[in-house]
Amino acid sequence: MFRAAATMFSVTSTASLSRGALFSIRHYCKRTPTKLRVSQAFSGAELGAKVKVQGWVRSVRSQKTNLFLHLNDGSSLQSLQVVASPELNDPSLTFGSAVEVTGVLKKSPHQNQPVELEADQIHVVGECNPVDFPFKIKERHSLEYIRQFPHLRCRTNAFSSLLRIRSEATTAIHSYFKENGFVQIHTPVITSNDCEGAGALFQVEPSSSEKEEDENFFSVPAFLTVSGQLHLEIMSGAFSRVYTFGPTFRAENSQSRRHLAEFYMVEAEVSFTQSLEDLTKVMEDMFRSATEHVLAHCAEDVDLFHKHVTPGHRNTVDFMLKKRFPVITYSEAIDILNRSSQKFAFPTHWGCDLQTEHEKYLVKHCGNIPVFVTDYPYDLKPFYARDNKDHPEHTAAAVDLLVPGVGELCGGSLREERLDLLRARLEEAGLEDTYSWYLDLRRFGSVPHGGFGLGFERYLQCILGVDSIKDVIPFPRFSHSCVL
Ligand code: 4AD
Ligand code: MG
Repeated sequence: MFRAAATMFSVTSTASLSRGALFSIRHYCKRTPTKLRVSQAFSGAELGAKVKVQGWVRSVRSQKTNLFLHLNDGSSLQSLQVVASPELNDPSLTFGSAVEVTGVLKKSPHQNQPVELEADQIHVVGECNPVDFPFKIKERHSLEYIRQFPHLRCRTNAFSSLLRIRSEATTAIHSYFKENGFVQIHTPVITSNDCEGAGALFQVEPSSSEKEEDENFFSVPAFLTVSGQLHLEIMSGAFSRVYTFGPTFRAENSQSRRHLAEFYMVEAEVSFTQSLEDLTKVMEDMFRSATEHVLAHCAEDVDLFHKHVTPGHRNTVDFMLKKRFPVITYSEAIDILNRSSQKFAFPTHWGCDLQTEHEKYLVKHCGNIPVFVTDYPYDLKPFYARDNKDHPEHTAAAVDLLVPGVGELCGGSLREERLDLLRARLEEAGLEDTYSWYLDLRRFGSVPHGGFGLGFERYLQCILGVDSIKDVIPFPRFSHSCVL
């Protein structure tokens, strides 16, 4: 920072500074080492300069002539090698301790690292007792093991890689929508809607001491959102293309490897649609663009997963990206399942809901690549799904994207934009008063539209091959567990 400031002064206003002032700025800059992130050091920044690097010790090796440390600061998977005189060694310099190292950044004589830090000062900022610390030097701990330490697992290579990938994937998804003309909407976390009608809601009330007798805080029952869809539909009536990306809550009493009580959902809504193809195109393009971005921008972190955590998964991902995603109808899916020789725990028939075992079978059947299943039975879908008005198999224009290893990744539909049909369906469910505002959207400038939601954790599971959804979110919440 000071270096930059000094440069700006000398370029823009040398004339107005006295020689003395300039000297003292330069003198100060020379003596104050630049703070450097490990990733910057690896990119060749500040080679030959005096720098200060702060981070956590990943390894310590003391030899007769040299002390070697590996320092990680979370900016990259790689740790920076520090070389120092053995005199700088200290008993508190242990695996896991936090340190601040000052020295000169040099080209490394070793092939497997471009630079190293020749230290003249090592300051232990925070000690770490290696006996009590649950992670051991040089040991590769499993994801299940590190999951027991939600407050510490970000200090491991695997989980810090996961979190950098998660961060980059978030950026990639926002970029996709920005580049494609979508407006981001912050849909509310607290809502009085039950969008999915599935009943898996968390109710929101003040804790008991704050609560007025017999009165809801919001005067109506309020819940944590299960989907931002209905709020997005409002906005799609003004902006044409909108999306939201935020936390979503379902009180599902499930311990499964793909369900959480709090997860992140990416939802998009598109106006003036012609058919489901308008939606499947957005889903497929977003999946490809986000995945290509992550593979390009987090190559080392992704490699760690594909080499050590889920060996061989890279081939699955490359294969997924090579092919267009096939589209089959629900009726075709049921035919495929009925013809299968596999024994399913849930037998299939037209009208049944697809279970994970069916979804996984369909993905394999289609060549182990993502597959769209369209036109589900009308009765299986919520009130907003557009009636296909077909016969005898009555279907709605809904679509799911099923992916390898996970099953359902996205769920979406065209929305019923025809006022009379929507009103009739809401009346049938006794919901016409609750959703009078939703009917208004069809009264005033209604257009054919549709949208979908993608489970962000399931997306990460899919591209990294991670078996449990609890290992792709910083702090997993699920039934009987809300640690920290
Ligand atoms: O299929 P779902 O329930 O669709 C909706 O909520 C629509 N209203 C979305 C929309 O059209 N805007 O959920 C969408 C996706 C699922 O396909 C799944 O990937 C993920 O959200 N999902 C979960 N992920 C983790 N834990 C859970 N409990 C999940 N429930 C759904
Ligand atoms: Mg669904």
